[in-house]
Amino acid sequence: MKFHLVSGACGFVGRNLAKRLISTTEDYIIMVDDLSVGDHPNNWIGNVVSKEVGEVEVFGKDERIFFFKQDIRAFLRRLMNEPDFLKKELDIPFERFNDVYHFAAIVGGRAKIDGDPMAVAIDLSIDAEFFYWACQHKPDRVLFPSSSAAYPVDLQSESDAIALSESDIQIESARIGKPDMTYGWSKLTGEYLAQIAAKHYGISVACVRPFSGYGEDQDLTYPVPALAERAARREDPFEVWGSGKQGRDFVHIDDCIDCILMAMDKISDGSAINIGSGKLTTFLEIIKIFTGFAGYDPVIKPLLDKPVGVHSRYANMDFVKEKYGWEPKISVEEGMRRVFDRAMEVHT
Ligand SMILES: NC(=O)c1ccc[n+]([C@@H]2O[C@H](COP(=O)([O-])OP(=O)(O)OC[C@H]3O[C@@H](n4cnc5c(N)ncnc54)[C@H](O)[C@@H]3O)[C@@H](O)[C@H]2O)c1
Repeated sequence: MKFHLVSGACGFVGRNLAKRLISTTEDYIIMVDDLSVGDHPNNWIGNVVSKEVGEVEVFGKDERIFFFKQDIRAFLRRLMNEPDFLKKELDIPFERFNDVYHFAAIVGGRAKIDGDPMAVAIDLSIDAEFFYWACQHKPDRVLFPSSSAAYPVDLQSESDAIALSESDIQIESARIGKPDMTYGWSKLTGEYLAQIAAKHYGISVACVRPFSGYGEDQDLTYPVPALAERAARREDPFEVWGSGKQGRDFVHIDDCIDCILMAMDKISDGSAINIGSGKLTTFLEIIKIFTGFAGYDPVIKPLLDKPVGVHSRYANMDFVKEKYGWEPKISVEEGMRRVFDRAMEVHT
């Protein structure tokens, strides 16, 4: 029986990963989230009993799922100071973690990344403390989610956009460009720490660079569910941030989780792989898909004062396909259909 730690377990990626572990393993799962953004497990964990034991919430009849509402940094510091606190407090045969998934981060959408970059820079602190702990604790395996935001922004402009390949970031030979704001810098720094942890401390670490992950249960501050919700309400004129011609690589959360688990199995040296579809889709195209589902053809109203980020960001998935044989299974049309159907259920 393994022990998993999921930080940021109540956020979008964290809760989808935690749900996957809960449904596919019999392992112990310890979830930590300060709920600054995340959704309490009661709202997504399904129909399982829960009870509070001191500062911990325990889920399920077999009492193997635990939730700490806490800053991950405080949790990890406590674990360093009192290595047997989990064993005593949870009454489980815990010695150390096997798999650790580190999703706790200040993320936010474009408005946060551009509008409050110093708040996002707190990620440097969260990741530094995380890797410092990991190098002492020595879990079997670590997953660090980097981001497509780590790629040089000058490869994503209107005139020079290319499909971004893993080799466009080469930390070892210092071939790196300017990433996207403090968010991208913190991810690039996190990848560097991952490589140091692997090389100098013998930790097995996999990094992933998800592009635009989306899904039915994503927060409405993100564009895909927000656009779906407005199409479900048949908004007309239909507002879009910027011209709407900016494009992203949309990849469904179920595919993201599949790829994360594959990376955990196959990567140990701190290197990073893309998680994307390899396809550039503009926001205008997403609106067309959603309004097509809703059966109307609205007037598009560009909001040119809104932050839009880089012009085109999409992945080259050749390396992942050739080296690891992995490809996403859910097409953009199918994934958007799922998001739209959920929006219809909830918002109409
Ligand atoms: N969603 C995507 O498409 C995507 C793309 C690229 C990278 N990522 C990365 O994946 C990770 C998770 O992203 P997400 O989309 O789930 O974001 P999210 O904001 O939904 O989740 C982050 C979670 O961390 C929690 N948190 C923040 N600070 C914390 C702290 N100090 N201690 C404990 N918990 C804390 C928040 O409450 C939230 O639940 C992030 O590192 C993000 O950069 C996500």
